[in-house]
Amino acid sequence: MTTMEAVVCRKLGDPTQPISDGGAEKAIVVEKNHPIPELGSPTSVRVRVKATSLNYANYLQILGKYQEKPPLPFIPGSDYSGTVDAVGPAVSKFKVGDSVCSFAALGSFAQFIVADQKELFGVPEGCDLVAAGALPVAFGTSHVALVHRANLSSGQVLLVLGAAGGVGLAAIQIGKVVGAIVCLICRGAEKVEYLKHLGIDHVVDSSSENVIQSVKDFLKSRKLKGVDVLYDPVEGKLTKEAMKVLSWGANILVIGFASGEAPVIPANIALVKNWTVHGLYWGSYKIHQPGVLEESLKELLSWVARGLISIRISHAYRLPEANLAFSAIKDRKVTGKVMLVLDDERSARSKL
Ligand SMILES: NC(=O)c1ccc[n+]([C@@H]2O[C@H](COP(=O)([O-])OP(=O)(O)OC[C@H]3O[C@@H](n4cnc5c(N)ncnc54)[C@H](OP(=O)(O)O)[C@@H]3O)[C@@H](O)[C@H]2O)c1
Repeated sequence: MTTMEAVVCRKLGDPTQPISDGGAEKAIVVEKNHPIPELGSPTSVRVRVKATSLNYANYLQILGKYQEKPPLPFIPGSDYSGTVDAVGPAVSKFKVGDSVCSFAALGSFAQFIVADQKELFGVPEGCDLVAAGALPVAFGTSHVALVHRANLSSGQVLLVLGAAGGVGLAAIQIGKVVGAIVCLICRGAEKVEYLKHLGIDHVVDSSSENVIQSVKDFLKSRKLKGVDVLYDPVEGKLTKEAMKVLSWGANILVIGFASGEAPVIPANIALVKNWTVHGLYWGSYKIHQPGVLEESLKELLSWVARGLISIRISHAYRLPEANLAFSAIKDRKVTGKVMLVLDDERSARSKL
């Protein structure tokens, strides 16, 4: 039998615990002899994974705190890049060796994954393959939210919370591409220093500044009325504070709850100020409006190839170090994306 290395979640729990081959008591283990997935339908494609990204949702899913709860055991992982390893007899879009990226509900923390050809995107010339594995969820979410839902436009003021994280860093770059005035909030001097270099209009350090006073002072200095679009993957206390600087007619993008608290946006204030509150669950577009996701990813890949956006890899680990990758997310050490990067040949197909 042909086998591969894969991270497997066998029971719900903390994925930051040290992992080893086969340890039954751990939430995640690394299986060295997991069966390589077979091609299913005639249009299926098997991809040899080069890189797969960690998203906060992957962490929540293993903890058992995510909205989608797959049956155990499962291979975690959503967005990935790699090269085509095998194709079904009716595949017309790709051939063996092509560079591709995609996202799945599960299964990318492994050396191989199978997808239908319509779910794969060709990675254009000039676009780094590891970077392409970090693109779909983080940049896709921020792009659909800002461009498709909030219609963010040139000259509008965008405020991004949790700005150093995966979706946050994507949001500020997309904000700059569309010509918005970008303000952001992150925590700690190291993150501030990096983010200031990106040409951001106003950077606030939540660990040392009065967040709202700082944003108010900036708006006043630029004679701006308020924030037009709030991009919020954090929620909780920070959301309540941020509502004090929103303008009449603002768009609020509810993206996630990294703080652990769901937000309370008062409907009476939303009414008086004509705010629009968008709940956005990017993954569900795959079921309800797949064309929106497709157009969005094509545009993002072209932006990467043209150098309009860049994907910062904050931490990169190998598959057996997946627990360390989750620790970086849990400990809020991340500026950009955390990746699992796979060696092409070293341990693949160990039994062939
Ligand atoms: N709606 C969707 O379709 C969708 C898609 C992707 C992600 N999300 C959600 O968006 C959120 C962020 O995801 P991500 O992948 O960007 O995560 P991430 O890379 O870990 O970033 C999360 C950011 O939130 C900030 N944060 C504030 N309070 C925190 C706390 N108590 N614990 C951890 N982080 C905290 C951190 O920044 P500081 O330390 O600088 O404050 C961190 O940079 C998650 O809730 C995720 O589920 C939603």
